[in-house]
Amino acid sequence: SSPMTPDRLKEMKVQGEKIAVLTAYDYPTARLFDESGIDVILVGDSLGMVVLGYPDTTHVTIDEMVHHVGAAARGVKRALVVGDLPFASYTMPKQAVVNARRLMDAGAHAVKLEGGRDQCDQIEEIIADGIPVMAHLGMLPQSVKMEGGYKIKGKTPPEVEKLLDDARAVQEAGAFAVVLELVKSEASAQISTALSIPTIGIGSGLNCDGQVLVSHDLIGLFPWFTPKFVKPHGHVAEQIRASAAAFIADTKQAGR
Ligand code: KIV
Ligand code: NA
Repeated sequence: SSPMTPDRLKEMKVQGEKIAVLTAYDYPTARLFDESGIDVILVGDSLGMVVLGYPDTTHVTIDEMVHHVGAAARGVKRALVVGDLPFASYTMPKQAVVNARRLMDAGAHAVKLEGGRDQCDQIEEIIADGIPVMAHLGMLPQSVKMEGGYKIKGKTPPEVEKLLDDARAVQEAGAFAVVLELVKSEASAQISTALSIPTIGIGSGLNCDGQVLVSHDLIGLFPWFTPKFVKPHGHVAEQIRASAAAFIADTKQAGR
């Protein structure tokens, strides 16, 4: 089927067709997901935690994102490849455009950044340069140190109002979709109804227009921590351990 586009994702919302998004950070994983029919591959800055071993996403650099966007994009024929702008890479609009362009040159079809009304100048400038932008609201992992943890959003009426205002603002600024992370499902339902662009939920209930997961959580490749909202569909860590144990045993026994 024909390559996925931001416009096609918007049509899917109109038609009530759910959007499936997974993260990937390397060639084989991206190629396997693409061949499986995933709609969007997000090269997320969750890279920092599940691949690079940092304690949170604030340590990820634009050079690291460029490196992994390139690897993932080389494996993709159909899915829309979205590259995350990492922490402190889009503080000013001009800087945001330069760094978004680097992700596009590495093979991304669009970029994602965290924030609402406060990021609309950045969103508008990036789009003015011809680069599609996905927004990200709710729990913002790049702000985890300021926030003091990964907290659920949209629990109180003022919080819901703020989320709705930010969601309308990023849509108005031209974003083609918005991730809702750790948003109460009543609030994410309300936002999804209010917007014409698709919402992509993570830990935000079933009423979003699509769902995204960190692939390591989905396939069981990060056994030391799994978020509560994740339903793992694989046990890859166990297969890696078993393969290593079998090889070690083969090697130690060889020639005896
Ligand atoms: O970096 C990431 O993987 C993300 C998703 C969790 C939405 O931003
Ligand atoms: Na991210």
